[in-house]
Amino acid sequence: MKITSAEFVISNTDVLKCPNSKLPEYAFIGRSNVGKSSLINNLTGKKKLAMVSGKPGKTRLINHFLINKNWHLVDLPGYGYAKVSKTEKKKFQRFIESYFEKRHQLVNAFVLVDLRHEPQPLDLEFMQWLGVNAIPFSIIFTKADKLKPKAAEKNLATYQEQLLTHWEELPPYFVTSSQTGQGKEDVLNYIDNINQS
Ligand code: GTP
Ligand code: MG
Repeated sequence: MKITSAEFVISNTDVLKCPNSKLPEYAFIGRSNVGKSSLINNLTGKKKLAMVSGKPGKTRLINHFLINKNWHLVDLPGYGYAKVSKTEKKKFQRFIESYFEKRHQLVNAFVLVDLRHEPQPLDLEFMQWLGVNAIPFSIIFTKADKLKPKAAEKNLATYQEQLLTHWEELPPYFVTSSQTGQGKEDVLNYIDNINQS
């Protein structure tokens, strides 16, 4: 799929105020700093569409973008940001959960994980939660440019092994880099195929 238009629509803290539309929606979620906003910019080819920062916790709102006038892409705040209070974390968690529970337009969640790190309990728990709530998801491994191909392969195999202790089947997954554009076409084609079906 070629992205011909990508426009910011609205930012929200309340899922009930998100666009009242029937368009299919794809959400990008994962730990703070994993590269959600960067990937969105890379996918859409617009460098400044979503706000990127080296400091975790940049995205604090549910951000809707309209793509090719026929689907929504959603940039969500990262979970698991260590430097906020417990109360703040709980508040955030509830806010993210309510998005997933109430947003019936959601077709697929992309859970982003940093390919450099071992599987983290928080990410695995989040995928588990999506599974329990019957929310379709796929995994996007990010920052592949920061690893040599051999190390990337090794980390991928470790991740798959871990997933198979929780799941009977692996969810679809993509290895990406917002810096080199690796995996971009695969993610876009995946979305396109779902939109066409
Ligand atoms: P929050 O909004 O804080 O949850 O973060 P986020 O997941 O949206 O991450 P963001 O896109 O803001 O990127 C965080 C940092 O990682 C920035 O410094 C990016 O430049 C860097 N980064 C993101 N993706 C990549 C990538 O593929 N390769 C490299 N080398 N750096 C990346
Ligand atoms: Mg962000």
